Amino acid sequence: MTPLLTVENLRVRYPTRTGMIEAVRGVSFMLGRERLGIVGESGSGKSQTGRAIMGLTPSHGIVTAERLNFSGIDLLSISARERRSLRGKRIAMVLQDPKYSLDPVMTIGKQITETLRTHEKVSKAEARDRALAMLEAVQIRDPKRVYDLHPHEVSGGMGQRAMIAMMLIAGPELLIADEPTSALDVTVQLDVLRIMDRLVSERGMGLIFVSHDLRLVSSFCDRVIVMYAGKIVEELKASDLNNAQHPYTRGLLNCMPVIGENRHPLPVLDRKPEWAA
Ligand SMILES: Nc1ncnc2c1ncn2[C@@H]1O[C@H](COP(=O)(O)OP(=O)(O)O)[C@@H](O)[C@H]1O
Ligand SMILES: [Mg+2]
Repeated sequence: MTPLLTVENLRVRYPTRTGMIEAVRGVSFMLGRERLGIVGESGSGKSQTGRAIMGLTPSHGIVTAERLNFSGIDLLSISARERRSLRGKRIAMVLQDPKYSLDPVMTIGKQITETLRTHEKVSKAEARDRALAMLEAVQIRDPKRVYDLHPHEVSGGMGQRAMIAMMLIAGPELLIADEPTSALDVTVQLDVLRIMDRLVSERGMGLIFVSHDLRLVSSFCDRVIVMYAGKIVEELKASDLNNAQHPYTRGLLNCMPVIGENRHPLPVLDRKPEWAA
């Protein structure tokens, strides 16, 4: 069976006046219809990896790979137009902050129905029904009311759910969620994660869940990739987290506060230059 996604030796580089910045330095992994976590500290190349898969690398960035294949489609050789038609329809990305992804001047309902109608020929009435059903699926209690609101009229948690509804309305096969909950408070975070989890298992989607929170990712994913300085330093089954071998992964685990444990100060990660080699 062809995997949903194959990434081989992915590199993302940015030319600058002082030389090349290598944001992603040879990342390889495969994804089936499963939940894969990508963790690593800020700046380790997680978002740049997700964006390269989406085809959303800023134009001055240089993306190369030996293989970048989605469901049998060679993403490196298709046209920008073909890439655009995959985006939203078959591959979707949820970003950290709904403020930057929702259009402030368009009602939530209209944004969701327009996304659907870009990818599928459906009547206005059917689009509305499906948008309302999707809002309900992401546990918005009063979908008819929220449908007519603008993004600034809802809370951050509700905006995040509306964005997930918008990303899922066309039924993507692959969802890339880039720190989708880190702007939310803890209880809302868990709600949003549960919603995504249910939708992933009900719809059989592949999910790439990007986060800097190793414990959160492993409680929620099947497999975890740990990135450091643009490279994968370790890949683990989530259930094997406590057997992590790489000192960076172990460091990430040790630096996380554990409820009920009183450690002052928290240990600070002591980075070794050879990790980035
Ligand atoms: N537009 C850009 N131009 C130049 N360098 C960039 C750009 N975007 C990201 N980078 C570089 O890529 C590195 C990885 O960024 P990113 O993937 O956003 O990290 P993460 O999501 O893991 O926090 C950053 O350290 C930065 O140096
Ligand atoms: Mg990021």
